[in-house]
Amino acid sequence: MTDSHRQQDVVDVLTSDHHEVMDLLRQIWATDDPGRRRDLADTVISELVRHSVAEEMHVYPAMKRHLPDGDAAVEHDTEEHKELEQTMKELESVDAADSRFTELLRRLEETLRDHVADEESDQFPQLRARVPRDEMVELAAKVESAKRLAPTRPHPAAPNAELFHKMVGPGVGMVDRLRDKLTGRSTG
Ligand SMILES: [Fe+2]
Ligand SMILES: [Fe+2]
Repeated sequence: MTDSHRQQDVVDVLTSDHHEVMDLLRQIWATDDPGRRRDLADTVISELVRHSVAEEMHVYPAMKRHLPDGDAAVEHDTEEHKELEQTMKELESVDAADSRFTELLRRLEETLRDHVADEESDQFPQLRARVPRDEMVELAAKVESAKRLAPTRPHPAAPNAELFHKMVGPGVGMVDRLRDKLTGRSTG
């Protein structure tokens, strides 16, 4: 039974998202098939936008409330989310067979690795130390439901970019459209 009775807290959920995305990136490097790379990259974008939006909606406000250096940490993290989004916006419209795709993917991975390391080694442990356990479990549910608001959640093992594009729109603008859907803003 291990610890299956232990409810996941928000750090468990976010950390497993991080692992999932880093693993998808490894899968992209492991193939040189452009179609497969495109599919996996679209799944990375979808997962990472959901994750970032959910953090900004529910987790970063909690960091501001509970961490002594919360404001500065959130400002720094939000800035990195913007960098990640900018790279993803370029990545979504570049040909997967183009060398630019590899450059952008490398940039995305580097920024993400730094960002994830900050969160996991600094902010998440502080949250666990300062936020009551029941609130941490509640935050996990809020993050899960924020991520579900967008129309599809492609499974990493079976990227479903085609269905995703049908529901969210064509490749260009995917990052913005997805963010708008998650935050309830209208794209018009
Ligand atoms: Fe983040
Ligand atoms: Fe994160």
